[in-house]
Amino acid sequence: MEKDKFKEQFSGSLSFAFQKVYPEKYAELGRQQVFSADFIYENLEKPRDPAHGRFAFPVFRYGKLLGDKPTDVALKVAREAAAHARSSGPHPDVLTDCIAAGGFINARTNFEMEAGETLDAVLTGRSTYGSSQEGKGRTVLVEYSSPNIAKPFGVGHLRTTILGNSLRRIFRKLGYESVGINYLGDWGTQFGKMIVAWQKWGRGKSGAGETVSDLVELYVKYHQEAEEDPSLDERARQAFKGLEDADPEITDLWETFRDISLAEFKRVYDFMGVEFDWITGEAFLNDKMEAVIERLEKAGLTSLSEGALIVDLKDPQLPPCLLRKADGATLYATRDITGLLYRWDRYHFHEALYVVASAQSDHFKQVFKVVQLLEESEQVPAEERVAERARHIDFGWVKFGEKTMSTRRGNVVLLDDVINQAVELARDKIREKNPDLKSIDETARIIGVGAVLFSQLSVRRQKDVNFVWDEVLNFEGETGPYLQYTHARLCSLLRNYPEKVTPKVEVSKLDREEERRVIELLADFPEAVRDGARNYEPNHIATHLLRLAGAFNKVYQRKDEQGRIDKIISQDGALSAARMALVRSVQIVIGEGLDLLGLKAPQEM
Ligand code: ARG
Repeated sequence: MEKDKFKEQFSGSLSFAFQKVYPEKYAELGRQQVFSADFIYENLEKPRDPAHGRFAFPVFRYGKLLGDKPTDVALKVAREAAAHARSSGPHPDVLTDCIAAGGFINARTNFEMEAGETLDAVLTGRSTYGSSQEGKGRTVLVEYSSPNIAKPFGVGHLRTTILGNSLRRIFRKLGYESVGINYLGDWGTQFGKMIVAWQKWGRGKSGAGETVSDLVELYVKYHQEAEEDPSLDERARQAFKGLEDADPEITDLWETFRDISLAEFKRVYDFMGVEFDWITGEAFLNDKMEAVIERLEKAGLTSLSEGALIVDLKDPQLPPCLLRKADGATLYATRDITGLLYRWDRYHFHEALYVVASAQSDHFKQVFKVVQLLEESEQVPAEERVAERARHIDFGWVKFGEKTMSTRRGNVVLLDDVINQAVELARDKIREKNPDLKSIDETARIIGVGAVLFSQLSVRRQKDVNFVWDEVLNFEGETGPYLQYTHARLCSLLRNYPEKVTPKVEVSKLDREEERRVIELLADFPEAVRDGARNYEPNHIATHLLRLAGAFNKVYQRKDEQGRIDKIISQDGALSAARMALVRSVQIVIGEGLDLLGLKAPQEM
């Protein structure tokens, strides 16, 4: 990967300075990578307070190593590094200073150089800014959403849908072939019950006009009736057996359920702008499990326990993995083991991600462990090992405050209801703010959906989300609508600027602290994207955009000494040109960042 020259110069100078200040220790420990420029490069941080500089290197751990106080290490090394950085190294003109600050050494960059290069990179790169080729030739599978058919599409599947949709986009941006997979829960004994209920009380088998809530009603009715009449359960077992044995009539019914559900899910996905490359499901694996079970048996990994076929995972933390029950039925885990191996054969992926709630973390540990044991025992060559490439991308709960929902059916908060309510609330707000807007419907959709999407991304995935209507739709809060609104304002500024925006501007005109901050955040966008992929965490991008919008809005709302708003476009043509280059750059990056999160960026609102 191409190195950032500011960081390269800084890490090179630090490495040099360590050697200069502590020659003996360096000779003694010199082979330790902690003094190498590469190591330092990888461990550079950002100062907490951006006023302290662009990059920070912590030296706490060096105190002990060098037998010196960390603050003294920082002072001595910073002094040498500063001298070195100004005169030597591959880029002697890029840093203006290296300064000790407690246990850190901070670097300042040549602002005009960084600003010029950043504006140029954003304005010429446009939608490709932040993209890279790191994933070239590699495939990443991202499985997400994966709702259960014949069940309501509830908010339980909201977060996986949104996180996965974003991850798919982020990996694509970095040059990976990223494949979005929807793995429907379309198999299990509950379908035996559904079939009986449908045959007894359903309105016919055409499926015409039936909806998921009709199916859910039938399912609820089944459970009520089965309490009175236990013979129903026997019939349900028979029906499921018929399904397993591919009885044509029963299979037909099952397909009807699947079609009804899928049609409804698709409508929600389309509305939200969520996409998949492969819609599959558990049933797809039915005829593939036996071969995998045989492989596991051959590898000597299976045993019988009370008639059931299990794999002992040889791990005190994990219970044995059940492959086949005594009655012959396979399980959720059997399907996932088979599915992972199947995905490998089909895609030869670099990584396979499963965006599924933390509640299923033991399940995935078991599944991956079984595959790992299989590969060990079959002595699969390292580069073909699948278990190491599989990752459970877990996430916390979504808490909906009480009485926040307009509709509740049963105990499930329907995704549809959440989205519709968000769009309605957005419509009210837009009417208030901009009653003349022509495309109110479309804009309300973009903003409402954006609010819901962003609510799931503005928090680190392993934390719980507290969904509060007033917060997610607040145009001034840390929300999707706030970013979308900022984007629309930038577009409007650009519409009102008669000149052509170019990167060839006098960057020295951008001399205010807030402008500097905006430039830095623009420059750091590619890193935020990379970090998002590395940590499977779209939140890095969400947070970055909020900072960028915040910094920009400070410039925009800046008042001069007389308390007047300092207009971006003024009599000073060169100043206006420089600021408009900034405006356009921020608009590009916010638009591109929103796109990576799955949100639309309106031109107007
Ligand atoms: N359908 C499952 C559920 O709703 C989620 C599937 C997760 N993915 C997987 N490969 N097991 O709980």
